[in-house]
Amino acid sequence: MAQFWKPGTERPLLLDDEEAGIFLSSAASASSSRLGFVNIEKQRQTLPVYKYREAILYLVETHGTTIVVGETGSGKTTQIPQYLKEAGWADGGYVIACTQPRRLAVQSVASRVAEEMGVKLGEEVGYTIRFEDLTNTDFTRIKFLTDGVLLREMMDDPLLTKYSVIIVDEAHERSLATDVLLGLLKKIQKRRPELRLIISSATIEAKSMAAFFRIRKKHTVPEGEKQEPNPEPAILSVEGRGFNVQIFYIEEPVSDYVRTAVSTVMSIHKQEPMGDILVFMTGQDDIEAVLHLLEEEAQQSKSSLGLVPLPLYSGLPRADQDLIFSPTPRGKRKVVICTNIAETSLTLEGIVYVVDSGFSKQRYYNPISDIENLVIAPISKASAKQRAGRAGRVRPGKCYRLYTEEYFLNEMSNEGIPEMQRANLVSTVIQLKALGVDNILGFDWLSSPTPEAMIRALEILYSLGVIDDDAKLTSPIGFQIAEIPLDPMISKMILASSEFGCSEEIITIAAVLSIQSIWVSGRGQQKGMDEAKLRFAASEGDHVTFLNVYKGFLQSNKSSKWCHKNFVNYNAMRKVIEIREQLRRIAHRIGVVLKSCDTDMEVVRKAVIAGCFANACRLDASSHNEMYKTFRGSQEVYIHPSSVLFRVNPKWVIYHSIVSTDRQYMRNVISIDPSWLIEAAPHFFVKQKLNHVHS
Ligand code: CDP
Ligand code: MG
Repeated sequence: MAQFWKPGTERPLLLDDEEAGIFLSSAASASSSRLGFVNIEKQRQTLPVYKYREAILYLVETHGTTIVVGETGSGKTTQIPQYLKEAGWADGGYVIACTQPRRLAVQSVASRVAEEMGVKLGEEVGYTIRFEDLTNTDFTRIKFLTDGVLLREMMDDPLLTKYSVIIVDEAHERSLATDVLLGLLKKIQKRRPELRLIISSATIEAKSMAAFFRIRKKHTVPEGEKQEPNPEPAILSVEGRGFNVQIFYIEEPVSDYVRTAVSTVMSIHKQEPMGDILVFMTGQDDIEAVLHLLEEEAQQSKSSLGLVPLPLYSGLPRADQDLIFSPTPRGKRKVVICTNIAETSLTLEGIVYVVDSGFSKQRYYNPISDIENLVIAPISKASAKQRAGRAGRVRPGKCYRLYTEEYFLNEMSNEGIPEMQRANLVSTVIQLKALGVDNILGFDWLSSPTPEAMIRALEILYSLGVIDDDAKLTSPIGFQIAEIPLDPMISKMILASSEFGCSEEIITIAAVLSIQSIWVSGRGQQKGMDEAKLRFAASEGDHVTFLNVYKGFLQSNKSSKWCHKNFVNYNAMRKVIEIREQLRRIAHRIGVVLKSCDTDMEVVRKAVIAGCFANACRLDASSHNEMYKTFRGSQEVYIHPSSVLFRVNPKWVIYHSIVSTDRQYMRNVISIDPSWLIEAAPHFFVKQKLNHVHS
């Protein structure tokens, strides 16, 4: 924004600025000094949740569990932790926790709250996500964290004793970690009745959630004894002030939602009054495709003049995130192209138009084929309503659904399926076991996982040597693997690398695999990128290629110029270095010998197999179209075009993950010798079966 104003004077009115003072940048670091304290206070008081401040505090005081339901943007996430702090819940060294399913939301909300409180992020207000801890043990009083991180904290402090209140936010998302967390918190509450829980969400089955948290008292508290909070959960609805949103449907189903989204954006821009546009896509790929097409439009005609397209997805560098929250320049129209993250986790001001593709990326695990897929799947009606609601924050808005009304009414499911019932449960099982929950099927689930998925998880964990014949965590392997905050298969790979003498290499690989991609994603630069990749490509596959890139990066003295020249993502590499250091520390702690194997890549591949043998695939000799079959389940899979083994097609490979678009693609692939499989997991690969597949 070009215009500044002096503290203490009236702010100039911005575009669409009907609620003066709210339409501010949270991330632009200079803004708090520009605004001054008074303005921030005023702004906080205009949020719908403010009217419920006393009610919330009263309920939290008197009830063990309080369920807060309220529309997105009403101030639940940013305000409630502050109210609690103001009321003294962080006195005596206690910490107020607020969990989020998404990392990006954790960072964004924490920095907003720090700004509102006028403190430096990482001190009084901090956040923790996996591999990134911006808190101070002595000073942090309000802590935002992912639900997964809070679960990990339980391994060191099972009763979470440092927290006085835990807010489980975005509970309607029903992420795997949220569900596990809710079950465990209920247990903790029985041991620590003074702990307060707030379950907060945009839409929630408040009644069933309340029923879940209802504690049945066996005896009444004798007179004179310390009053315990009411075991009956309280429910509070924060009334929002959303404006009316007009819904439009497409008349005929579309085959290409990316192009349709772009043409919809263009026609909004041409025909509708000013106001920002929010476009719901599914992931980085289609977001970039939309950006690319909008760029083309801009080159071809003047019709896109004044449009400012911005991407929003997790893994986006901080500087780009900041742009999303800064005010739209006068006379311009922001188009934020986002994943599901803007559905309820983040509120963007100034949005008047929503374009809803009708899809999101979801994890689907099939216990029969034993494949967990990241698929682009239809959203539910509940999601569609949330998305539409984003258009009505500042004034009446419009939502363009890229599907037919008939489809919405008759085919879309009402609610999404909880992740618990469509995810691979390997990580969940090991975590619960490490926390001493042995009877996992008998655990108090909000929605029970399927027995098939549970059996599969136990099977893999048994093959990994993590659990024994009685399904108990093995010592030391099981406990060691549970310590590492990665997929158990990757953790096992790290543990095995100790024996193979290649832990330095395997830890690098694990660090790279835990971020989205180390390559820059530039459309239209495919040729340069392919050439750059060839420079590093290793015949063994992607894992070894990563080692080459990492080596090159170190030799360049971690130069950003070098990255640019080689189409390597500099920010991603810095992250790799950071994660690598943390993993080395953890590995050292659990007794892994840190050692490099220099150029011996056979041991590296053997260590990969030791963890990931269950992802082995064989090239299907009978097919001429480069098809592979998974060893378990005989599923058809193909090497992803981004892999260095694309078109190379070695006979046997191990993949790291599967993505589904037109086909099931294996991402990050390494070639192996099948005889190593039997060595690594004899019980998993019955020899005859392997020979049979082999012939
Ligand atoms: O959690 P809920 O959806 O109820 O609302 P919130 O996230 O607490 O947001 C309250 C207000 O803070 C909204 O007006 C947001 O625009 C603003 N906010 C912001 O400006 N920057 C952030 N990073 C987060 C929230
Ligand atoms: Mg929120």
